[in-house]
Amino acid sequence: MRWLDADGGRSFLRALPVLAGSAPPFDIGSAPAEPLPLFIEWIEQAAQAGVPEPQAMTISTVDALGAPRARVLILKAIDKDGWHFAASSASQKGRDLSAHPAAALTFHWPEVVRQVRVVGTVVDDGAQASAADFLGRPIGSRAMALTLRQSQPLADPAEIDAEIAKAHRKLTDDPELVPAEWVSYAVRPTQIEFWQGSPDRKHLRLSYQRAGDDWERTQLWP
Ligand SMILES: Cc1cc2nc3c(=O)[nH]c(=O)nc-3n(C[C@H](O)[C@H](O)[C@H](O)COP(=O)(O)O)c2cc1C
Repeated sequence: MRWLDADGGRSFLRALPVLAGSAPPFDIGSAPAEPLPLFIEWIEQAAQAGVPEPQAMTISTVDALGAPRARVLILKAIDKDGWHFAASSASQKGRDLSAHPAAALTFHWPEVVRQVRVVGTVVDDGAQASAADFLGRPIGSRAMALTLRQSQPLADPAEIDAEIAKAHRKLTDDPELVPAEWVSYAVRPTQIEFWQGSPDRKHLRLSYQRAGDDWERTQLWP
């Protein structure tokens, strides 16, 4: 067994830089009344600062037995209905969401020393939005999604090619084919926290909490 070093990697891990990016100005006092414009500003600034794939987010769910799972997914859209992503309802995350329609989203943008945490209920955007999302995907992604095998044990890697070939034949026969399992979901946020790191550890944290139709803004201790 190879270890990072004799102390379980402590020296190696401690020597790695952290909070090493360059944070743009963030004036909590002049933050907007709603979180959506601030999120849009932050993700645009992350993209401008060269954060690779700023639309990649960690989505955490809980299964029927209460076990948590997190994985990275791509954010598809953000609007008044929420933070949208798409997945198969037959996947582990889809089954988790059927059991517990709630999720946490975490964005980490190191170049701007920022993190955004979103918590909310998850709703199905409906058949029309799900179909539009599926039909907008490249053919390779549609074929893989059509196999409906994500996260199942793979006994023989040759099975993948056979299943994908089958899926491509189905798509050639019916280019408008949309599996019933494909769902565009939206996280309807109840709480959003904007976190900006500072080298002196006086990190700036602004929490928005849903209060009826409005949002309550609270600055949090670092
Ligand atoms: C950058 C990145 C983007 C990803 N995008 C997706 C995606 O859009 N859809 C997807 O199903 N999995 C995506 N994955 C893979 C998921 O993290 C995960 O492994 C997969 O969805 C299975 O999760 P589940 O078993 O919890 O359902 C992505 C992974 C990474 C690292």
